[in-house]
Amino acid sequence: MVGKIIHEHDVLVVGGGLAGLRAAVEAHDNGADAAVVSKVYPLRSHSVAAQGGINAALGNNPGSKDDSWEKHAFDTVKGSAYLADQDAVEALCREAPASVIELEHWGTVFSRDNEGKLAQRPFGGAGVPRTCYAADRTGHNLLNTLFEQASSRGIKFYNEHFVTSLVVNNNKCAGCITIDIQTGELHGFSSKSLILATGGYGRIYERSTNSLINTADGHALAYRCGAALKDMEFVQFHPTTLYGSNILITEGARGEGAHLINSEGERFMFKYAPEAKELAPRDIVARSIMEEIEKGLGYEGEYVYLDLRPLGAEKIKEHLPGIRQIARDFANLDPVEELIPVQPGQHYSMGGINVNIDGETNIEGLLAAGECACVSVHGANRLGGNSLLETLVFGKKAGKRAGSNDRESVRLSNVKNVLDREQERLETIFSGKGENTAALMKEMKKTVYGKFGIFRNEEKMHEGLNNLYRLQKRYSGAGLNHRGKKYNQALLKFLELGYMLEIAEAVAVSALERKESRGSHYRADFPNRDDDSYLKHTIFIKDHKNRPSITFSPVRSGLFPVKERDY
Ligand code: FUM
Repeated sequence: MVGKIIHEHDVLVVGGGLAGLRAAVEAHDNGADAAVVSKVYPLRSHSVAAQGGINAALGNNPGSKDDSWEKHAFDTVKGSAYLADQDAVEALCREAPASVIELEHWGTVFSRDNEGKLAQRPFGGAGVPRTCYAADRTGHNLLNTLFEQASSRGIKFYNEHFVTSLVVNNNKCAGCITIDIQTGELHGFSSKSLILATGGYGRIYERSTNSLINTADGHALAYRCGAALKDMEFVQFHPTTLYGSNILITEGARGEGAHLINSEGERFMFKYAPEAKELAPRDIVARSIMEEIEKGLGYEGEYVYLDLRPLGAEKIKEHLPGIRQIARDFANLDPVEELIPVQPGQHYSMGGINVNIDGETNIEGLLAAGECACVSVHGANRLGGNSLLETLVFGKKAGKRAGSNDRESVRLSNVKNVLDREQERLETIFSGKGENTAALMKEMKKTVYGKFGIFRNEEKMHEGLNNLYRLQKRYSGAGLNHRGKKYNQALLKFLELGYMLEIAEAVAVSALERKESRGSHYRADFPNRDDDSYLKHTIFIKDHKNRPSITFSPVRSGLFPVKERDY
């Protein structure tokens, strides 16, 4: 490694997706010198892949005339299996309409109804049609809008920078260290506040809708420095991902009227959720599909069909053009005439870095927003359309909080010391010889998918955790098969695998600890929800001896009493 470059900013945002960009814009608008560090060009962030929409109680659809933030909040809390913190949900739902309108004013081209108002489609677990959308490319539209807003403000971007560690001293964050992927040079960043907005950790799983870049970076960076992770056992499986590649097939398709069909040609969701049917929350629909497959009612023991034909050609072409394209390109079929083979796939991480409503962690100057954070508005199961909303509402709050941070300038010497340490660490990695990481990565994904998937039990999970420990051991002796400095993908994969193995352990330990079934966490050995023992958040944090430990924290209720869920 050569070169030592130090940059100084008031606010440094790590991640160029929706939460990161919204945070950077807000920090800037609050007078801070804000900059964004991103592993990829911002428009390639995973937010770009979001399809179906963003929720806000606008009441535009004839079916949602008397919608309100309270109804949105109720659906969200019920969908979360009552694990969401209700004050955070209130903030999310109250601020939703203004957040969506703001993006519309900034230039997002939303789909409109016949009266010219923002169109709203039905989505899973929502009592009324509440999801605004831009056909089936909502994330793409929102991300382009926010990138334009950030760029037009002159916010500085450090693209293709990979964060190797945070600079934290005495529980205070002073910045981070990156590798400039293009050159291989190390850079130090000194900032008064640092906001992690690095997305989810979905790529610890086989069969995921997530981009290849979703490798738990922010979670691991924060955890290594003593930040708490919350509710890591709650992993969302999207019911409909394309069989073979697991590309997302939006819930918007079912919202528009598509049916799920088993091998008997039966619309089986009538059996599992007689009222909501295909629009029950995702945990229920994903489990129902897997039950059908396990009963021998799937196709080739692997998938069921999604039938878009009831929508008709015109609606498919206008509202779901991206899905039609995906079906044609990746499954060689046209959903106007044919059925799409689908199976559940990992989609979202409800848990994440534990933050308060302003995005603050337990480390001074370190904040988090978006999917990498747990604020927590999704509890045990997120409703579709609430994650894009979360990025805007809580990205803005974190940006505002960070932008008004008047911490004295942090000590540059801390950054320089960590930069020297990182230089030595990377030299050791470069000189090390050992097992290549590709096989380890594959085995980790298989283990996490096989042992911590939709149906869990103690025995399987213990096997999985022990296998993760073995993989961690093998990783500590692994090496690189490419030693070049520029665009060294082998090095990035090596470092990403380290993050993922650590966070896979957090998921595993948290899942073993929760001996009940709630939302996405379904344990065949404890099939019922147990509010007496487990209406609480799981906290995964290093103890005073630097070892992983679990504690619990209370759920903040208040708006809605805890009840059974029925759909
Ligand atoms: O199905 C979808 O379009 C996904 C939406 C979401 O995860 O919010």
